[in-house]
Amino acid sequence: MSTSNHNNLNSRPVGFFDSGVGGLSVYARFKKVLPAEDCLYFGDLANMPYGNKTKDELIGFARKILDFYKGKKVKAVVIACNTSSAQAYESVKDDYEFKIYPIIQSCAKVIASLNYEKIGVFATEATVKSGVYTRELQKYNPAVSVNEISCPNWVPIVENNRYTEKLAMEDVKNQVDKMLEFSPDRVILGCTHYPYLMSLLKEFAPEELFIDPAEIFVDYIKSDLDKNGLLNPGGGSEEFFVSANPESFKAHAKIFYQIKNLPVCV
Ligand code: DGL
Repeated sequence: MSTSNHNNLNSRPVGFFDSGVGGLSVYARFKKVLPAEDCLYFGDLANMPYGNKTKDELIGFARKILDFYKGKKVKAVVIACNTSSAQAYESVKDDYEFKIYPIIQSCAKVIASLNYEKIGVFATEATVKSGVYTRELQKYNPAVSVNEISCPNWVPIVENNRYTEKLAMEDVKNQVDKMLEFSPDRVILGCTHYPYLMSLLKEFAPEELFIDPAEIFVDYIKSDLDKNGLLNPGGGSEEFFVSANPESFKAHAKIFYQIKNLPVCV
């Protein structure tokens, strides 16, 4: 994207998307760090969960949302979804004039620079299948060994608020135990829903073991917008959109971020 006409561009909104409410973990952090940005958030509830979808399906979902944001004249889109970053980003990244920030690729360089020897990743099946976390981390630190484990039950546990159920606790314990066999220095929570499982995760491993990429991601976006003269000098509005079930989105969003009105179904 050319930055020569940034004076027109910087007051445009930033679009976010995820399969549902999970991306609000990134969005909430972004609003805290950059409160003057006008923001749009799209939850693709008609197609959630993304974690068990094929690459072609995920590319199709991403294109539809990016086309929607093109119509909204955004200056940037944040792919606040690991699964979409893993499976769709490469195929769509050159097809739009605005900036596109994918969570995995944006964070990998920073995490790799911390020079850990062994990094674990908990993520959805589609993200693990892509191998993108391993590839991106090893691109910047070829010596790092990476162990990716998929946790297909974790998104439903968070979405349905099942934190205290015995089965949920057992599932989290089993996955953490499996990961600890690898003796990781750090474990990336590679799905935007997973930071909301911290109350359970820390029962079975020290909290400091886990990396929530949202913080690194938002710092990265902030410095890149700044570098390109794209920070908004004064805005702060927000608008939410979904592809289905606005009531369900609003109800589930509560754990992540308090939204005032029902999202618009498009
Ligand atoms: N929030 C998405 C991610 O970060 C996955 C949730 C889903 O499976 O829809 O990967």
